[in-house]
Parts: sequence; C-alpha cells; structure tokens
Amino acid sequence: MTDHVSTHQAEEDARNEAILIWVNGRIVPKAEAMVSVYDSGFMLGDGVWEGIRLYNGTWAFLDEHIERLFEAAKAIDLDIGRSRAEVAQALKDTQTANGMTSDAHARLMVTRGVKTRPFQHPRLSQRGPTMVIIMEHSRPSLPRPIRLATVPHLRGLPMTQDPKLNSHSKLNCILACIAAEKAGADEALMLDVHGFVNTTNACNFFIVRKGEVWTSTGDYCMNGITRQKVIDLCRANGIPVFERNFSLVDTYSADEAFLTGTFGAQTPVGVIDGRTIGSGQMGPMTERLRGLYKQLVGA
Ligand SMILES: Cc1ncc(COP(=O)(O)O)c(C=O)c1O
Repeated sequence: MTDHVSTHQAEEDARNEAILIWVNGRIVPKAEAMVSVYDSGFMLGDGVWEGIRLYNGTWAFLDEHIERLFEAAKAIDLDIGRSRAEVAQALKDTQTANGMTSDAHARLMVTRGVKTRPFQHPRLSQRGPTMVIIMEHSRPSLPRPIRLATVPHLRGLPMTQDPKLNSHSKLNCILACIAAEKAGADEALMLDVHGFVNTTNACNFFIVRKGEVWTSTGDYCMNGITRQKVIDLCRANGIPVFERNFSLVDTYSADEAFLTGTFGAQTPVGVIDGRTIGSGQMGPMTERLRGLYKQLVGA
C-alpha cells in the first residue's frame, strides 16, 4: 500500500548513503558500522536511546535529552561508562565528521553490550556497553495529515514495562503500528489501561477543543520533551492547556489533533478511526504552535 505515510517520513537524501557513524568511539562509514550478533540490543532489545535534532547549528534541548538518557540507563541499571559531557562530545564529533550544520537527526543508542553467551541474564553482558550514533540528513516531509487508528495494544502500567522508558524493546509499539496499518491507517492511537486516549506508537498526542489544548495526564506515555515544550509554550502564550483524561468521544469531535516528537515537531492528524478531525487539514492552533516551536528551536 503506497498511500501510507509515517510521522518519521523525511525527504529522500542521497547523502545519507555516505554518512559516517559513531560506533564505540570510532567513526566509520555506514557500510562498516556493525555491532556483534551477541549484542544485548540485537539479541534482547536491552538498551536505551534518544532521538535528537539539529537546527541551525544547535542540538535542540540537548541537556534534557542527555538527562533522559542517563535516567533511563539508571533505571535499567546500565552503566553508560561515559560522562554526560563525553556523550555530548560524541554527538558533536559525529556532526563534525559528517559536516552537518542543520536539519540532521541523530539516534543515540546505548545497549548493555556484547554478551558472552546467547541468553537473557544481564550478567552475561560483560563487554559493554555498546554505544552508537546514527546521524542522518533529515527534513520531515509529510504529504498530508496523519491518519490514526485505535488498536487493542495498550500503554501499560509502570510495573510491566514503564512507558516512560525509551528502551530498545519497542515490540508493543511495533505491534500497535502494524495493527493500525492493517486497519488502513498510518500509525496507532493507543489507549491507557482505563481506556483513555494516551499516545501514539511513536509520538505524544494532543487535541484542540474550543481553543483549549488537551493532552493525556502523562501517566502512561513517554515523557516527551516536545510534549513538555508545547505545554510550556501554551502557558507562556496564554493558551489554555490541560493534562487530563479524555476519551475517544472527546477526540473524534475535537477541532484539531496533532502529534509531538523530536523528529516531526508538531504533526497534524487528519483522520482517526475513519472520522475526519475538524477540517481534516492542519488547524490554526496546530499551525500557531508549530510557529512558536520553530522560534524556540531557532529553525
Ligand atoms: C513512544 C514515544 N512517544 C513519544 C516520543 C517523543 O518524545 P520526544 O518529544 O522527546 O522526542 C518518543 C520519542 O522517542 C517515543 O518513542
């Protein structure tokens, strides 16, 4: 089905075939950037990561991303083995090596490293961690607003796999995304354990109703940095914003809906479960918030 789009869709850029990738302190051509088949990330999804974006020479909210990475690593008891400053330097070294100055997107990944045997126990991960930075030329390019479908896969309680953990284990989100595609949509809208609208498989979710901006309480979703920036921008600009429970009834009848994430900033949503949201096009509040965010990141 060629009609599908994704929130992480970027313009084709042939330069991405020739990028250099940071692998455990070495900067190597893409074709040579490899990790072991015994790597904890490959074998078990045992790792944490961040997506970070470069706008006009500045990595947007870099300190917050590095802080979240270290928090996630601590939560899974993974020693990154580098200071925050060293991790930031690795990002900048990759940028310099690639000669990138703007419109770049980095995926910074840290896994528990290479295992001695192909089994789950973290004690078997003795040579690690593995750290990789993939940095690509990236300009988001969305031909139309996103279509979402609600799926049976939930954003669970913190005691199963805390949805706040940016882990390599994305299977719950991937299954949600597959279900949404099979239902004819682009991506999945996921509910929380109580049935309230929570988030999508890869982004945070907002609706706009009568001039108010609503998003979930935040209890079951990624503590998105872009989500927080949008909330802060609303507060700073006199736009009423609420972190609250709301259902699909409130959502289908919203005037606008949009997603937030580092990659796409604010992405308009046109259709949810076959219902057109508002005009089906980007609404005025989404457009306004996109403008305010652009100013904030210096884009
Ligand atoms: C599940 C999920 N939700 C939301 C986000 C967006 O977070 P941020 O705004 O920090 O990029 C991400 C990004 O990693 C994510 O994986």
